Amino acid sequence: MDRIIIRGGRPLKGEIQIGGAKNAALPLMAASLLTSEPLRLSNLPHLADISTMAKLLRKLGVEISMDGNATGGGPGGPDGRVFAITAGELTHTTAPYDLVRKMRASVLVLGPLLARAGRARVSLPGGCAIGTRPVDLHLKALEQLGAEIELTEGYIEAKAENGLTGAHIVFPMVTVGGTENLLMAASLARGETVLANAAREPEVVDLAQCLVKMGARIDGIGTDTLTIQGADGLNGADYAVVPDRIETGTYAFAAAVTGGEVTLTGARPELCEAVIKVLTGAGVEVTPTNNGFSVARTNGRLRGVDMMTDPYPGFPTDMQAQAMTLMAVAEGASMITETIFENRFMHVPELCRMGADINVHGASAIVRGVKGLSGAQVMATDLRASVSLVLAGLAAEGETVINRVYHLDRGYERLEEKLAACGADIRRVRE
Ligand code: UD1
Repeated sequence: MDRIIIRGGRPLKGEIQIGGAKNAALPLMAASLLTSEPLRLSNLPHLADISTMAKLLRKLGVEISMDGNATGGGPGGPDGRVFAITAGELTHTTAPYDLVRKMRASVLVLGPLLARAGRARVSLPGGCAIGTRPVDLHLKALEQLGAEIELTEGYIEAKAENGLTGAHIVFPMVTVGGTENLLMAASLARGETVLANAAREPEVVDLAQCLVKMGARIDGIGTDTLTIQGADGLNGADYAVVPDRIETGTYAFAAAVTGGEVTLTGARPELCEAVIKVLTGAGVEVTPTNNGFSVARTNGRLRGVDMMTDPYPGFPTDMQAQAMTLMAVAEGASMITETIFENRFMHVPELCRMGADINVHGASAIVRGVKGLSGAQVMATDLRASVSLVLAGLAAEGETVINRVYHLDRGYERLEEKLAACGADIRRVRE
């Protein structure tokens, strides 16, 4: 298994190009199942999760051709990668356990498969490191559209032999994946569907905008009430994936925690407001640029800031671990409350091994800032926890070895390369 070795204590200085958002790309790829025409997606990040989704779609009979690194962007450049995805004929309707187990977002094929083919068999994702993460809300809502759903032998067996019919659905809690599954299913349902208490995440907006380009009729995009007029069929389209706000926030925090100065090119600051608020509250300078924004901490220590994760536009749970690293070296105490996932503090013991002073009480962590961290051997059990340890390693004195690097490869494209280009002493050891 690969490891990443960091010698910390160097301020990051330079420019980082932000790639397309993984969490937008995955549902957009699943949306290709809704039409027999090609869906051409550009600005796709080059990540393990994208390959897993491509593998799953191919298993269903979908053809994917890669147009290399697109029009002029170059590897990792502004245009990212381009996939032309054509679901001409669906030869299978099963998402098998070995793929769903690797990536929970595989469940996003459920809605579009059911809507287009009238049936779908998708392995139940089960728990994961950050909590139980059920899909009950996806299933209840699909039943409201007329699907018959049974759970047998670890699989969701869903049928809608006479198609789906629009309905008024009120989500009892905000679910990003549930909103996405239902948006796709409702686009091919008969009549009108209203999704109330829908997720407003920029990745949901990206999916809705792509569906509109494919011929879907959706009102209320970007609000918590989406109204979809179902269509008989959808067409192909060209769509560019939104820049990754979590990658953006992660590198912004990396600049801040090392006392550096980094420009995030291609970033969309208006999608990162809650993260920028934490940065400015901590005393970091954030300045808009032509094509993104820059982050600089040149004067003194960071200040502690309290924060609570919440659905968008609140502070993202996918930035909570990175925020904790920042607060671990800030002046004063801060309280970080996690409201989305019940078990998302696995990075705490690892950060403490590096010298952080953090106590968890239920859903909140009290972080008492220390002057500095020290390098150690660490490992984490999920993507964002792993990257929070990379940030800690960049800020720490001495050497940090991060094990289980495959988590990072699921969500951060060329992480070591991007950081090294800004002066970090970071390398990957392949084993
Ligand atoms: C997506 C993101 C993930 C992010 C999360 C919250 C992708 C591929 N992943 O995950 O990175 O951390 O949003 O912003 O986009 N829940 C239920 N029943 C359900 C569905 C959800 O109880 O049927 C609960 C979950 O356990 C969790 C909360 O609702 O506690 C929010 O989950 P959800 O928004 O659905 O997250 P994902 O779509 O899985």
